[in-house]
Amino acid sequence: MNPSLLTRQALGQFAQDNREAFEAELKVLVEIPSVSADPAHQADVRRCAEAARSLFERHGGRAELLETSGNPFVHGWFGEDPSLPTITVYNHLDVQPANEPEWTAEPFTFVIDGDSYRGRGSTDDKGPAVTALFGALAARRAGVPLNIHFLWELEEEIGSPSFAGGLALHRERLKTDAIVVSDTVWITRGKPSTPAGLRGLKGFRLTLETADHDLHSGVVGGAVRNPLAELIKVVAAMMDGETGKVTIPGFYDEVVKPSKEELTEWSNAGFSVETFKRDHMITGMRTEDPLKVMKRVWARPTMEVHGVVGGYTGPGIKSAVPPRAEIKLSCRLVPDMDEQKTIGRIRAFVSKHFPDVQFHEEHGLAPFKGHVTGPYAQAIKDAYRFAFDAPCAFTREGGSIGAVKTMEEILGCDVFFLGLSLPSHGYHAPNENYDWEQASGGMAAFAHYFETVSAIRD
Ligand code: BES
Ligand code: MN
Ligand code: MN
Repeated sequence: MNPSLLTRQALGQFAQDNREAFEAELKVLVEIPSVSADPAHQADVRRCAEAARSLFERHGGRAELLETSGNPFVHGWFGEDPSLPTITVYNHLDVQPANEPEWTAEPFTFVIDGDSYRGRGSTDDKGPAVTALFGALAARRAGVPLNIHFLWELEEEIGSPSFAGGLALHRERLKTDAIVVSDTVWITRGKPSTPAGLRGLKGFRLTLETADHDLHSGVVGGAVRNPLAELIKVVAAMMDGETGKVTIPGFYDEVVKPSKEELTEWSNAGFSVETFKRDHMITGMRTEDPLKVMKRVWARPTMEVHGVVGGYTGPGIKSAVPPRAEIKLSCRLVPDMDEQKTIGRIRAFVSKHFPDVQFHEEHGLAPFKGHVTGPYAQAIKDAYRFAFDAPCAFTREGGSIGAVKTMEEILGCDVFFLGLSLPSHGYHAPNENYDWEQASGGMAAFAHYFETVSAIRD
């Protein structure tokens, strides 16, 4: 190993020297519209996997596509010495749809604007993926004695439906000592954080049909049922729209309160409501108290209404009674809530009080509780301090990553997080972006992380 290639300065130089290559590689990936939710983009998802494989091969690594019952995994690696420890970096290369009207340029055209990179997937999660890859190149150049593997998923944004099956199928090839995930956000720029927990997610839909065509609201209205109004009543019975409080009996029963230590850590993490609102461009909050905001996003479950389908939505009013309606909802879950128990309670409530409303379950992900102690967790903190000269707080994330718990269960090792995205990068938002400060610092953070964990023997 050549430690002079692993100083902060040498790694800064490495990033500079590789900036063009980094941008070229990220451009290739961002310009492939790997939208996993859209069947019309199925071929693009496959093309993205192929492009990722050749990316490893171009940079001296080896790679293969591992087939699953859905989209393939990309498995890339540098080094396969059985006497050395192995670390696996997880990212996902599929992206959310990009049909928002607010995009100022084509979402699948990679735009470089000074130090800023724009395009769907630039920060969630292609930018961090390519950053980690360059961090591995820096570590390999310095001779860090470690096998560095990459597992890139292409179904994360649809709830990882084929992930567990694929992992079980390929577990021998994917054996590893620990996993590091780069798919989470900091508190704000300059304030790194790493989650000690993720929320889970359970989607469901309610439908009601009371006729088979539009009826005249003057001729029969008053006497006939209105399915839209009835579904709105169901939602109002399940939750208070203003406070967000869920009124399903037992909904909060398994929720574990954050510990005193966690609350202290959160209070000192540098979280500010003002910055939070600015970064996310939020104009309406349910509370302005910073600790309450953190608790609500990181440690409390939610019920959210995502969409209402039905009736007339064109200009003006059509005076009809609609025949059918649908409401799309989901709940975020926190430790120790159970997906099946939760959806069971909601289903029972709906069928008891609204027996002819149809209940449809959608995909679900369990909540995750992470690790804050031990050498791998310490190596995360050291990596942020080294690369960004800033302390890193153990917080949690309100979002969900289906693969995390599954990897712990099937591969039998712990998962840690070295995220690089910022709230202002706009996960899932129009004009999603990533930037060179996070990328160049991220390369140094990953290289340092690989160096540190290469010395762990367990
Ligand atoms: N990277 C996010 C998860 C995330 C969000 C982490 C916010 C940290 C903060 C991931 O790509 C994502 O968007 N997950 C989805 C999963 C869902 C579609 C099944 C989510 O959380 O909604
Ligand atoms: Mn992501
Ligand atoms: Mn996402």
